[in-house]
Amino acid sequence: MKLLIPGGAGYIGSHMVRYAQEHGHEVVVLDDFSAGHEWAVKDCESLRVNLLDQDKLSQLLKGRHFDGVIHFAAKSLVGESVKKPDLYYRNNVVGTLNLVNEMLNNDVNNLVFSSTAAIFGNPVTDKIAEDHPKNPINPYGQSKRMVEQILADCDRAYGLRSICLRYFNAAGASDDATLGEDWRFSQNLIPHVMKAVLGHSPALQVFGNDFPTPDGTGIRDYIHVEDLARAHVAALDYLSAGNESITCNVGTGHGTSVLEIIAATERISGKKVPHEIVARRPGDPSQCYADAGLITEKFDWSPQRNLDDIISSAYAWHSSHPQGHDS
Ligand code: WQD
Repeated sequence: MKLLIPGGAGYIGSHMVRYAQEHGHEVVVLDDFSAGHEWAVKDCESLRVNLLDQDKLSQLLKGRHFDGVIHFAAKSLVGESVKKPDLYYRNNVVGTLNLVNEMLNNDVNNLVFSSTAAIFGNPVTDKIAEDHPKNPINPYGQSKRMVEQILADCDRAYGLRSICLRYFNAAGASDDATLGEDWRFSQNLIPHVMKAVLGHSPALQVFGNDFPTPDGTGIRDYIHVEDLARAHVAALDYLSAGNESITCNVGTGHGTSVLEIIAATERISGKKVPHEIVARRPGDPSQCYADAGLITEKFDWSPQRNLDDIISSAYAWHSSHPQGHDS
């Protein structure tokens, strides 16, 4: 298939680009490179544009047909979204509206949207299914929830079909350690663990050990970024087969605590992870992991990589790329 991948220069997007190319798809990346890196998409055509630049976007996409669009382009830092909500609504919601407008103008009807478990807000059940209440507690989650609703309305009105994939905690790096997260910007746990174990920070701060969990630390569902990439192609195949729009949670269905992540990192690296227990981070739920039965049923997809694969790939990437792609 010929795929347009907005945000293809980012962490998850760049893994998607490579996976799609390795599986015979033609890829065009659309990115403003404000956060992504050109190195990550060096082997394909890339269109340098921000989704908010509607005139340039229209000019670049005019007359170009794609079999599908996989849309990653978004701001995704929860903390930043609380401080700058307008930035998140404009970038994530208005940007997506501009993209959808160009898809409709060029008769491109299949979209896979990068959504998030953050749309659920505080879990009312430990295991989260698609019908879990949706009460986002930050503008990031709210912006993704709004886009999901926009896409549902665009299906009803125009027949633009979409699959929203609600990621839980994307983690890990490429098998050859050439793609990964940039710990200079990521606020996620695993890059911070790697920074501590590799001596680039004095200690990992563990945000609370008084949660009602077996070891007292927060539990999340860590899904390997390579498994995530495979889920997106499975989703496009599902749409290309003429199926209806659907929304799926994407996770392993298992929860892992912060201390378990630390223990796995120490076992795999052979080094101690210096860490200190500090106060809880506001808004952190005690545990949150996916009921991923629907995606397995609909796309015949299930994660093939485990926690050790996540930790070892992240360790190899961060060891060789302390400055991310600028290393
Ligand atoms: C995980 C656990 C923290 C950092 C994510 C992101 C984003 C979204 C899913 C897509 C929590 C603890 C963390 C640290 C710590 N996915 N922690 N010290 O909070 O689940 O949020 O949700 O949109 O990936 O928003 O992920 O990695 O920040 O935290 O103790 O330095 O690690 O308290 O229990 P989270 P996280």
